[in-house]
Amino acid sequence: MKILEIKNLCKVYGDGETKVDALKNITFDVEQGEFVAIVGPSGSGKSTLMHILGGVDRPTSGEVIISGVDVGKLNETKLAIFRRRQIGLIYQFYNLIPILNVEENMTLPILLDGKKPDKALLRDLVGKLGLTERLKHLPNQLSGGQQQRVSIGRALMNHPALLLADEPTGNLDTENSKEIVSLLRKFNRENKQTVIIITHDDRIALSADRVITIEDGLITRDSKDKYDQYRLALDTEVSAS
Ligand SMILES: Nc1ncnc2c1ncn2[C@@H]1O[C@H](COP(=O)(O)OP(=O)(O)OP(=O)(O)O)[C@@H](O)[C@H]1O
Ligand SMILES: [Mg+2]
Repeated sequence: MKILEIKNLCKVYGDGETKVDALKNITFDVEQGEFVAIVGPSGSGKSTLMHILGGVDRPTSGEVIISGVDVGKLNETKLAIFRRRQIGLIYQFYNLIPILNVEENMTLPILLDGKKPDKALLRDLVGKLGLTERLKHLPNQLSGGQQQRVSIGRALMNHPALLLADEPTGNLDTENSKEIVSLLRKFNRENKQTVIIITHDDRIALSADRVITIEDGLITRDSKDKYDQYRLALDTEVSAS
């Protein structure tokens, strides 16, 4: 089942001298349960794409269809609700609310939606994320890795159709990065959670089922072939040395 369909997506920022064609005609589909890495140089349009997929920003033209819903046809209010229910977003800098504890941060999106948090799901997620002893802690009383685990928990509390992560390990050391990626993998495998992760880390890209490369606003490679991915990693190493 297709969970995401993107057709001829374009994004233009500004106009005149400051005009930037950030996305130039991007088309691809993602099946339910895929674990997709998006890679590419700085400024190539990865975060722009993620913001549009996450309903945080609108494209200049083209279509985004998530679970069969044409997101571009939703008005602002409906888009906000759709985003809250269908999309889990994870950022490099966690974006937790500093005055709310772990449990409150995780359940906030559900409460904002006027619903009661699923206590069993909360307990289950908190256990899997290793946060059981930290439920009443504030974000500034947690390590970076723990804060990122809270943001994963928050993103998963509403069973999102899509889990989108923009360099979720960009601010973490190697050990914590590995842990975050293996947690995302675990949720992907066990719950068929569809995951799209933007990363600069070759090891993460190599662990994905599929790697999409974006360069200068265009998809230049889209591969499920492991050997292709190794070749890509080698290419970048060679060009960096
Ligand atoms: N709000 C904005 N207004 C104008 N230009 C923007 C805006 N956001 C991004 N851009 C431009 O769009 C292009 C794509 O930016 P984007 O943030 O998507 O890149 P990225 O691939 O995520 O890069 P990085 O790996 O550094 O995070 C860049 O040239 C950037 O300068
Ligand atoms: Mg970015």
